[in-house]
Amino acid sequence: MSRTQHDLTGRCRVCDAPISAFMSFGRMPIANGFLAAEEIANEYFFELAPAFCSQCSMFQLIEQPQPDKMFHGQYAFYSSTSRYMQLHFEAFAKAVMADVLPGRADPFVVELGSNDGIMLRHFYERGIRHLGVEPSQNVADVARGRGIRTISAFFNRKLAQDIVAEHGRADVMLAANVMCHIPDLPGVAAGARHLLKPDGVFIFEDPYLGDMIAKTSYDQVYDEHVFIFSATSIARAFAPHGLELVDVAPQITHGGSMRYTLAPKGSRPASARVAEQLAKERAQGLDRLETYQRFKENCEHSRARLMQTLEQLRKQGRRVVGYGATSKSTTVTNYCGITPQHVEFISDTTPIKQGKLSPGAHIPVRPYDEFTRAYPDYALLFAWNHAAEIREKEQAFLAAGGRWIVYVPDVKVVA
Ligand code: TYD
Ligand code: ZN
Repeated sequence: MSRTQHDLTGRCRVCDAPISAFMSFGRMPIANGFLAAEEIANEYFFELAPAFCSQCSMFQLIEQPQPDKMFHGQYAFYSSTSRYMQLHFEAFAKAVMADVLPGRADPFVVELGSNDGIMLRHFYERGIRHLGVEPSQNVADVARGRGIRTISAFFNRKLAQDIVAEHGRADVMLAANVMCHIPDLPGVAAGARHLLKPDGVFIFEDPYLGDMIAKTSYDQVYDEHVFIFSATSIARAFAPHGLELVDVAPQITHGGSMRYTLAPKGSRPASARVAEQLAKERAQGLDRLETYQRFKENCEHSRARLMQTLEQLRKQGRRVVGYGATSKSTTVTNYCGITPQHVEFISDTTPIKQGKLSPGAHIPVRPYDEFTRAYPDYALLFAWNHAAEIREKEQAFLAAGGRWIVYVPDVKVVA
């Protein structure tokens, strides 16, 4: 169902208060819906419109496509593609082993959205009891192929009961870049409370609202990200389910993320970092609607600047290629109106994206070696969250006279 601009209202997915969109990014396809030319006629669109709940401070999408349109058997995202992300999840797993597991007899670790096993493999390799919950069959199969115990299902209270019946309660629940994908957050919170031992912890991380607002990184908003969290909204969302926010830790991944630790209320003291983060968020205005109205203006300004740059290069006949067919780039290309006339193709290392067209904008996605074979004049850095890794790797592109176009936090051309 597609709504009109005038009907962008609904109810908060967390606290049920009435909400309305403060802006719309317009008609948007599925961010990971890379498609063949013959599929264009049937391409699915919805209106990408975020809302802010003044009652519980949750940033959320008003409308979201059905989950089966997004996380299906052919989900194109394999976590282990990036070397930096592999190191990040190794460090995450080791931190859990060092901080939470000592002193626990035969601990049990459950990860929601375990993807291809990028994090759970570290528990598996040490013989620690684990279970991955991964709805997308193809990535779950990769994990199983590596020996990592994985079930293909969506996590909710019922699944939590089934897991407890079969394996017992969990010492640790983990999730990375997954919780913000699940529309029924109250259902997950209730399931987590049921699955965790009384002294268990739920640790998860997701793109952080404070970074998105500060950097105008509006490309974090796309169909899969039904929420963008803050410490404020997470504390409020879990409290009714008996889970308390006891720690927070900022992460540099995905252009700025936050790791949240939740525990059954009263089971452990909250770190001073929680109160500090909540105060910081109040100072940033994350709990006020005006902040989001200003964010909307910043998005419009960013779009105007990027299109001005791309139009100018197009008129000058420069070759511009996109770097990284990210989910995020679907919001950028469609919101800004970037076409194959602006961006010749998008280079991407993921085999199942190659040879396809980008969602909505229909820019061809080509293998990475087409980028290196004949360097373009400019590369538009869609995978900006991997900028450090990419710029280190692409020194020959710069040496050949190539330049990067970046748009987070500001639109600029850099060497
Ligand atoms: P990702 O970081 O997961 O972003 P999103 O969540 O927005 O999809 O995706 C990175 C994409 O960029 C992925 O398709 C792989 C691609 N990529 C490259 O092509 N080359 C690279 O060097 C890196 C790091 C990523
Ligand atoms: Zn709310």
